[in-house]
Amino acid sequence: MNFKDWQILRFEKLGSTNDKALEISANAEGCYVIRADEQTAGRGRRGRVWQSLHGNLFFSLLLEFELENIGELVIISAISLYQSIKQISPQADISLKWPNDVLLNGAKISGILLEKADGNYMIVGIGVNIEKSPHNEDLLYPTTSLKEAGIQVTGDDFLMLYLRIFSNNMNILKDSGFESLRQFWNNNAKAVGDEIVVRQEKKDLQGIFRGINEKADLLLEKDEKISKITFGDVFYKE
Ligand code: BTN
Repeated sequence: MNFKDWQILRFEKLGSTNDKALEISANAEGCYVIRADEQTAGRGRRGRVWQSLHGNLFFSLLLEFELENIGELVIISAISLYQSIKQISPQADISLKWPNDVLLNGAKISGILLEKADGNYMIVGIGVNIEKSPHNEDLLYPTTSLKEAGIQVTGDDFLMLYLRIFSNNMNILKDSGFESLRQFWNNNAKAVGDEIVVRQEKKDLQGIFRGINEKADLLLEKDEKISKITFGDVFYKE
């Protein structure tokens, strides 16, 4: 995949860039980036709202990808964000949080929402807090923005860098497989080897976080037994 292959469509205002990507997937050829300067109905994971604050970056990648390997796409999307921020600010304190979050100074800096589109297409919707972050009380996790953390970059520059890094990671996947990408994730994830809680609708699961497997499932060890977890929200113990 070449960075120049992306067809970039920019809109002043959209409900959700993921919805526009779904619409485009009906007649898609090649891969696309759908970007909106303003998003009025941004969606988050697990039915949550994504507050789309002015000055932040909202875009969706629309690309062909096998649904059964979705875990690989989740990990590539997240590590590409991690690597983009590291490239802009090598000293930044960043870490990865399962399944697809990136933390800056321990707070959520971005969000990724993967959805299936028409045919073989997948949508990777990404929100990056460039300038602002929401700070209301009903948020599940603390949040921050690049600007609040002292990192100056425009949405335009961040997106171009992200596309380069994402394309490069897709090439690594194609040429050498998922293993090195999985290892990168595990090496840079927060709290591997520590006790965590995974909150699901009906229960909380507690155990030692053992990283992710080749399907990007979370591995949780309890009583010397490792279970694979496919959904839930991770909480750390301070
Ligand atoms: C999360 O819950 O952390 C995921 C948030 C994903 C937000 C992005 S913003 C661009 C794209 N369009 C949406 O409606 N959602 C994603």
